[in-house]
Amino acid sequence: MKDLIKKLPKAELHLHIEGTLEPELMFRLAKKNNIYIPYKTVKEVKKAYNFSSLQSFLDIYYAGAKVLITEEDFFDLTWEYLLKCKEQNIVHTEIMFDPQTHTCRGVKFKTVVNGITKALEKAKDELEISSFLIMSFLRHLSQEEAFATLKEAEPFKEKIIAIGLDSSELGNPPKKFKDVFNEAKKQGYKLVAHAGEEGDVSYIWGALDILHVDRIDHGIRCDEDNRLISYLKEKQVPLTICPLSNVKLKAVKSMEKHNILKLLKQGLNVTVNSDDPAYFGGYLNENYEVLVESLGMSEEELKRLVENSFKASFLSI
Ligand code: HPA
Ligand code: ZN
Repeated sequence: MKDLIKKLPKAELHLHIEGTLEPELMFRLAKKNNIYIPYKTVKEVKKAYNFSSLQSFLDIYYAGAKVLITEEDFFDLTWEYLLKCKEQNIVHTEIMFDPQTHTCRGVKFKTVVNGITKALEKAKDELEISSFLIMSFLRHLSQEEAFATLKEAEPFKEKIIAIGLDSSELGNPPKKFKDVFNEAKKQGYKLVAHAGEEGDVSYIWGALDILHVDRIDHGIRCDEDNRLISYLKEKQVPLTICPLSNVKLKAVKSMEKHNILKLLKQGLNVTVNSDDPAYFGGYLNENYEVLVESLGMSEEELKRLVENSFKASFLSI
């Protein structure tokens, strides 16, 4: 199965580029840019990556992102991930980035987008990897700040396919971003949102009914509502699920208890993704591998999940 997982061409649909920052690159950039990070060795970093919740992860993830300053830094970060894609036979990837994590620190919007897109263009030419970019709003910030970010994106509109919503879910429901998502849809963006990762089913319903998203990121708590399961099945709304992330952030007690294959059996359009691979102990193939090890995933299930990764992508629009 490990060979088959590696051999199959795959698409990845839920990946935060800031979450691909490996400790080695973090150290190199911290030194180059003279930024303080609270670790001395890779071993110390790995020890700190022991999370109790989404928030405990986000605190460390935002601190790590502070080493990213120049366009070249964003290029290097993205290029390293794309090399990993090549190694893992990921032929298409839809990458999220959080501009506010950087503009808040005085890094220019164009520095972030240009660095990332230069790497994406090089990967198209040299690695034969296609990609789209998804700009995510940080939901712990205000809707006004999201509107300001949408405005900043205007000159780069042709480089960004969709708008997303991430960061601290609890206490920041979809309705907080109703107007800005409405405006983004009017401007022609596709829409996605994290929902039902830690939040209950009301967050998933809100993303569907209030934000009108095309895909749900995570969505694993959907199994708490039979009507929601029927809706997701009937409409084939994609769920971009991230098994290693869910266990690492304690959204799920153990991999053996993960519901991804149960949802697949029920006919939902579920996909496998890596979320923040540098922090959660594995890239895309490792996420598929744990499903074999812990849930006994069959070859047929693997093929269906891989098929779904293309079916649920924005390539099919
Ligand atoms: N959830 C919410 N926000 C995030 C995540 C996540 O899994 N990863 C990076 N930002
Ligand atoms: Zn995510």
